[in-house]
Amino acid sequence: MRAAVYRTFGPAEVVRVEDVPTPTPDAEDVLIRVHAATVSVTDATARRGSPAFSRLFFGLRRPKWPVLGSEFAGVVEAVGPAVTRLRVGDEVVGVTGPDFGAHAEYVRVHQDAALAAKPADLDFAEVVALADGTALAFLRDKARLGAGQTILVNGASGSVGSAAVQLAKHFGARVTGVCGTANLDLVRSLGADTVLDHTTDDFTRAGQTYDVVFDAAGKSSFGRCRRVLNPDGIYLSTVPSAAILFQMPWTAAFGRRKAVIAFTGLRKPAEKGRDLALVTELATAGRIRPVIADRYPLERIAEAHRHLDRGKYGNIILTIPGPADPPAS
Ligand SMILES: NC(=O)c1ccc[n+]([C@@H]2O[C@H](COP(=O)([O-])OP(=O)(O)OC[C@H]3O[C@@H](n4cnc5c(N)ncnc54)[C@H](OP(=O)(O)O)[C@@H]3O)[C@@H](O)[C@H]2O)c1
Repeated sequence: MRAAVYRTFGPAEVVRVEDVPTPTPDAEDVLIRVHAATVSVTDATARRGSPAFSRLFFGLRRPKWPVLGSEFAGVVEAVGPAVTRLRVGDEVVGVTGPDFGAHAEYVRVHQDAALAAKPADLDFAEVVALADGTALAFLRDKARLGAGQTILVNGASGSVGSAAVQLAKHFGARVTGVCGTANLDLVRSLGADTVLDHTTDDFTRAGQTYDVVFDAAGKSSFGRCRRVLNPDGIYLSTVPSAAILFQMPWTAAFGRRKAVIAFTGLRKPAEKGRDLALVTELATAGRIRPVIADRYPLERIAEAHRHLDRGKYGNIILTIPGPADPPAS
């Protein structure tokens, strides 16, 4: 099969399309013909092998997993003899384990992996753009966001932030989105009640307070955001720092305002699968929509990585069309 492979850490050009052996499913595995996958910030971090501590996970001297890609959508091509949950021909959206592998024509996952049925009214690229459950896990499970609460989403135009704005509206919250100038209209169109431009406004000095500050971009800190949190407010960050790793247990024990970091990728596959089913349901009901910055066919994987390195809004999608699909854009 064709796959996007990298064998050394470095710039976008280290990723090349190669022929590699197609995985064969073990007894409880399913083999999925991938039609679309996200090319995410995690893929870029793994490709660069930077920051240095990330190599503890991605490989010390060379990449541990040569094919990147976590979120995928496709069609079940083959199933192992003990598979009961899926059948050949099922259209699914899913997330691989920590070993990646979705930037390829085929990916093999266990039948109990994070998987959900693809709704018929979303195409493969659209459904995979909804598959990252980070925003849902933070807002529902960590903030317990509810109707009437106020939330500020920092990095509201990104993959996590654009989902967070829409989900926060779905939960009935009043939403302020913070993004760059070029993305103000996008964030407004996602339902944000107020939109701030981080290039001209400092939300920590604007005099407004919130029940929740969700720093989806990891560009702020609990220290700076403390003053814009209501007395029982919660600061959530997607990006680990020495400070928040200390502040989280400290604020859990003392004081009313809390600082929270979470690693949503480490959740159980069953939990992620349930969240996939929920977000696809919300999308089908028109409550949320995928945000796609660009689509690149597999052959242009290095371009997709260059796009990531420049910075992006929403999601970058890798398409892997089969013979029966329309030509890739
Ligand atoms: N902890 C976890 O479980 C977890 C899970 C997934 C992702 N993450 C992390 O979450 C972070 C965001 O991921 P993502 O996929 O959403 O990234 P992304 O799509 O690249 O979005 C980042 C957004 O940040 C905005 N931004 C840039 N500078 C900013 C600033 N100074 N202030 C406010 N916003 C700014 C950019 O928008 P503008 O161009 O509009 O400024 C961009 O849309 C990454 O670091 C990723 O590694 C963590």
